[in-house]
Amino acid sequence: MVETDEDGRGGGAAPRALITGAGGGLGRQVAIDLAARGVSVALADLNAKGVEETAALCGPNASTLAIIGDLAAGDAPEAAVDTVVAHWGGIDILVNNAGYGGIERFLEMTAALWDRTFSINVKALALLTAAAGRVMAGQGSGRIINLTSPASRMALPNYTAYAASKAAVDSITRAAAVALAPSGVRVNSVAPGMMDTEMQRSTEEKLAAIEGRNDVAAFLDERTRRVPVGRRAEIGEVAAVVVWLALDAPSYITAERLNASGGLDKD
Ligand SMILES: NC(=O)c1ccc[n+]([C@@H]2O[C@H](COP(=O)([O-])OP(=O)(O)OC[C@H]3O[C@@H](n4cnc5c(N)ncnc54)[C@H](O)[C@@H]3O)[C@@H](O)[C@H]2O)c1
Repeated sequence: MVETDEDGRGGGAAPRALITGAGGGLGRQVAIDLAARGVSVALADLNAKGVEETAALCGPNASTLAIIGDLAAGDAPEAAVDTVVAHWGGIDILVNNAGYGGIERFLEMTAALWDRTFSINVKALALLTAAAGRVMAGQGSGRIINLTSPASRMALPNYTAYAASKAAVDSITRAAAVALAPSGVRVNSVAPGMMDTEMQRSTEEKLAAIEGRNDVAAFLDERTRRVPVGRRAEIGEVAAVVVWLALDAPSYITAERLNASGGLDKD
């Protein structure tokens, strides 16, 4: 059982987490690793089958809750937090991991891609942070972890909406950390390097196509060689950073943007 005395939830009670985008990729691994530490995990995703698989992977002793639907729609962010509170009486950890990214040339950008990207990466993340933040502030404790990206600080003309959405995540992380600091709630972010997830695979294939490259394997190798440690990130090593911020990091750490990018991002 995880001890979280410093954050006011002593006595061995299981912390309660909401993980968005838990139907696959990084969110799935974070859910599995938090569940292994005794955390009750609410798994929110569009993908019902993916959530079912994640719940099974969390093991028979895990306490899981499925929240299926589009988090960018209507009052879905508030409803997701309400569901967690209705089931477990509160919320201790929010991992804002659900994300979307699309490739298009800068001069051919579309309103549709900006809307889709910002509605989940930015609007839903901000509203989830505020909804969970209200409950956590009432409890006097809680931890929020946002997934950002090295892209937020790069010039990426074929990936501008995504990069800009992650710059917005950095801005929201700072504002939320300051808004919630007096209430005992900590807000930090993680910037993962390239992990071989569904999102990353489809993005890089489209990027290769738009850059006129037929040799996708060589294109991927070149991108890997740009990472100073010389390899892509294991999903598990990024999940470990999220879990550390959620359960183990000293409570004085807030408003931090933690790089887990093998040296791609430098500070
Ligand atoms: N993969 C990488 O290399 C990488 C690098 C940097 C940052 N990130 C960030 O890490 C996070 C996780 O990335 P991933 O690679 O695991 O992505 P992924 O595409 O494999 O998984 C994202 C999950 O979010 C869900 N989702 C998307 N839109 C949703 C919506 N509107 N409502 C509910 N669920 C929704 C998807 O169904 C999916 O299960 C993202 O925020 C991403 O931007 C990833």
